[in-house]
Amino acid sequence: MIGKVYGTGSYVPPHVMDNDDLSRMVDTSDEWIRERTGISRRHIAKAETTSYMAGEAAWKAVEQSRIAPAEIDLILVATSSSETIFPCTACEVQKRIGAVNAAGYDLNAACTGFVHAFNTAQAYISAGIYRTVLVVGAESMSNMIDWSDRGTCILFGDGAGAVLLRGEEGGKAFMAAHSDGEKSQALTSLSRHRRDWEKETDGASYVRMDGQGVFKFAVRKVPEIIEEVLDQAHMELDEVDYFVLHQANRRIIEAVAKRLNTDLSRFPMNLEEYANTSAATIPILLDEMNEKELLQRGQKVLMAGFGAGLTWGACLFEW
Ligand code: UT7
Repeated sequence: MIGKVYGTGSYVPPHVMDNDDLSRMVDTSDEWIRERTGISRRHIAKAETTSYMAGEAAWKAVEQSRIAPAEIDLILVATSSSETIFPCTACEVQKRIGAVNAAGYDLNAACTGFVHAFNTAQAYISAGIYRTVLVVGAESMSNMIDWSDRGTCILFGDGAGAVLLRGEEGGKAFMAAHSDGEKSQALTSLSRHRRDWEKETDGASYVRMDGQGVFKFAVRKVPEIIEEVLDQAHMELDEVDYFVLHQANRRIIEAVAKRLNTDLSRFPMNLEEYANTSAATIPILLDEMNEKELLQRGQKVLMAGFGAGLTWGACLFEW
């Protein structure tokens, strides 16, 4: 049994902030940002919450799948920027789409979260525990950003993407997951609810990052994990139709393609428009590819994510 994609959906807030807007806020320029990251714009939530965006993306995926919401067994939401610690965003999505029979919970592995949630869904499906699983990645990164820190504020955006999986006989998904807690300080955002009794503050804190450290980690570990899932599947790089990577930085994706000696055209990208939406980048990209009819049944897709933790994960599956 394997989870086949029956529907995809995405939502990004309509408000757009381009690089010139940012250059009026911090000492940066459109040229620098495009050259170092490939990013031109990002969509920023104003009134929209993480659960609202998750619900919109989920609704589109469910509509496309033509599966009744009541048939959904499980909702998994990958997020690290929900507006509530509890209730979990998955329960808000359940309410929004009327998935009355579903269980639901959130999963946080920062930018790797969607890949881990997708793999969790595949594991439940292949074990025969659930048949129909909705997997969502949703983030409001703009709430976690220090808008005076040019090293981070240029990189992120907000949005959500969703994939509806239904178990079918035959096939297998090949997966891998890793983490390295020793490097936890490379990318952090402290909980806003951690009270500092000495300073009598609520401990609110923004994303802090060792940009070069994360860059080097990604360029080293992503090719390794791609090889790892290919080995499991006894497949060669040329047999993969698309490498759908976490959309953090164009230069990271170029470096991964180069290390694998693989043509960049097989690495679709949309970070120019949305920047890094953390756990939402991969499902937003899958939805765009699906909408453009780039994805056909039987094609091999290899997803790979990486981010805070440090964490990294991959899944090779048949569309
Ligand atoms: O989901 C995972 C999330 N994280 C990532 O993906 C981060 C991965 N890392 C990166 O994408 C890159 O490291 C950055 C885009 C963050 C930075 O690019 P870089 O090529 O590694 O630049 P750098 O940190 O080495 O900085 C080079 C220079 C520095 O100035 P000096 O010291 O050479 O005078 C920075 O202060 O660029 C300066 N700089 C900027 N200049 C203009 C840093 N940020 C900016 C900026 N605009 N926004």
